[in-house]
Amino acid sequence: MKILFIGDVVGSPGREMIDEYLPKLKEKYEPHATIVNGENAASGRGITQPIYDQLLSAGADMITLGNHTWDNKDLFNFIDKADQLVRPLNYPQGAPGKGIRYLQAGSAEVAVINALGRTFMNPVDDPFPAVRRAVVEAKRQTPFVFVDFHAEATSEKQAMGWYLDGKASAVVGTHTHIQTSDNRILPEGTAYLSDVGMTGPYDAILGMEKEAVLKRFVTGLPSRFEVPKTGRTLLSGCLITLDRKTGKADSIERILINEDHPL
Ligand SMILES: [Fe+2]
Ligand SMILES: [Fe+2]
Repeated sequence: MKILFIGDVVGSPGREMIDEYLPKLKEKYEPHATIVNGENAASGRGITQPIYDQLLSAGADMITLGNHTWDNKDLFNFIDKADQLVRPLNYPQGAPGKGIRYLQAGSAEVAVINALGRTFMNPVDDPFPAVRRAVVEAKRQTPFVFVDFHAEATSEKQAMGWYLDGKASAVVGTHTHIQTSDNRILPEGTAYLSDVGMTGPYDAILGMEKEAVLKRFVTGLPSRFEVPKTGRTLLSGCLITLDRKTGKADSIERILINEDHPL
């Protein structure tokens, strides 16, 4: 079982990278399941129905989200019927949408779980017991369980990896937009990567116009961050291979496409 995961798609430059490279990546790696984090897909903030449709038609089977889930109000118009969309499961009760969904990968199913960290982030429910419960529930249905843990601190992400070692097939971090090089298989068979990285503007700061971010750092003055419309771009992802029977990970490799690392 091969799972292709692409990190945070930022704005139209990120969506253009998906349109251009996702079909090529699928041809090269032949994944059974393709998951894309779309929390920044609409101008860096949230997702809309046309963008959700666009990511699916480019080849995604499931879209995950993060702390920007509710930023674009269009989500409320379609989240209830978007069965290929997973939002963080540790929002307080009453939030629309689902934090776990199953995608059909040939004759098998892959459970996709999305959760938010709490360290240096806005308050949400404790992700650890919430994710553990979801993984236990998923394992009754399938051995293939993928967790997108959307968190700031590498310590919290590593903690989630160890917490789920041998329980989830893969724990992959998102949110910091910088790909880490610590891809590994934990001792009990869980594929782990602290952050998969982002997809979108390359000559930018976490996908946003560097001038605006610099202004805030250098002068301390408020400035609104926008996604640059032009310029070089990158795509970040990873490919995970799972044992057909046990769902444990055989490999996790990083994917990085930019001008310095062509496909
Ligand atoms: Fe993000
Ligand atoms: Fe985020």
